[in-house]
Amino acid sequence: EKPLKVAVLGCGVVGSQVVRLIHEQADDLAARVGAPVELAGVAVRRLDAPRDIDVPADLLTTDAAGLVARDDVDVVVEVIGGIEPARSLILSALENGASVVTANKALLAEDGPTLYEAAEKAGRDLYYEAAVAGAIPIVRPLRESLAGDKVTRVLGIVNGTTNFILDKMDAQGSGFEDALEEAQALGYAEADPTADVEGFDAAAKAAILASLAFHSRVTAADVHREGISDVTAADVRSAADRGTVVKLLAIAELRESESGEEAVSVRVHPAMIPRSHPLASVREAFNAVFVESEAAGQLMFYGPGAGGAPTASAVLGDLVTVARNHRQGTRGVGESAYADRAVLPMGET
Ligand code: HSE
Repeated sequence: EKPLKVAVLGCGVVGSQVVRLIHEQADDLAARVGAPVELAGVAVRRLDAPRDIDVPADLLTTDAAGLVARDDVDVVVEVIGGIEPARSLILSALENGASVVTANKALLAEDGPTLYEAAEKAGRDLYYEAAVAGAIPIVRPLRESLAGDKVTRVLGIVNGTTNFILDKMDAQGSGFEDALEEAQALGYAEADPTADVEGFDAAAKAAILASLAFHSRVTAADVHREGISDVTAADVRSAADRGTVVKLLAIAELRESESGEEAVSVRVHPAMIPRSHPLASVREAFNAVFVESEAAGQLMFYGPGAGGAPTASAVLGDLVTVARNHRQGTRGVGESAYADRAVLPMGET
């Protein structure tokens, strides 16, 4: 069988684990795809940067655009993150006839429709299971498994850093600053923790979840957002006294708009949830997404929401599907089935 050629863009925490798994799982991948899966190249910013794994020197390149433009590349895996150059690279990959797997929540939340349309136009796959809640399968369940049901509400703990901080405040009585320092010391929170603690990361994931759950086009700008930096030890204690726990929740639900139409409302904010709710059991830096739907009822998806290997697991799952489709000349579920349900303006939540 002619091998399937994969270009990996980015070789950081996630990318290096993707490269490792493509090597280590080569036999299984070949069996599942129906052809050997081989690396065409790995695009990096610096050839001599320290990295977690040894990548053969002839695979490394600093020319990501050149790699994506190669005729022999069947699938592009984008794990650079951020808006540019990721967006341009994904668009040119699709234009060149490659299928794309991405973990880029910021890009999907800001400009997903541009990517979906490019994939439609090219007749190629665009898969992004790793963009929300790391290893937890939630994108495909919402997009495919629940496509015949009617989802009414999604409640997510989709940021591990803030869940870790709030969990320490709850379990140890710590203040926000001490818990944040602990999260930083353990490598959960970054030196500049703004994206996590102010809810930007969760808002991006909330936009993606809402788009999938409600067949709509929600962007990060539609998400009402409040972070956890103002949550005090006293708030957490008084929540505990009432039998509740404070969690940073991403909430997406169907509401009736002023004109009487069903519309999507999406928000991220600290919320008190009863200790008996399944989401209250999500400790440390774990993530969970709680889905309510008409026919299925209540479902919870739980697991590690970040980290190199867990996120790479989701990327590899997409890679198998996309590579198999590519080889067979078929496509998975595209985004054209989206119904464009209205999104409530912020503030009307
Ligand atoms: N900073 C994110 C988190 C990483 O804490 O969950 C995964 O997107």
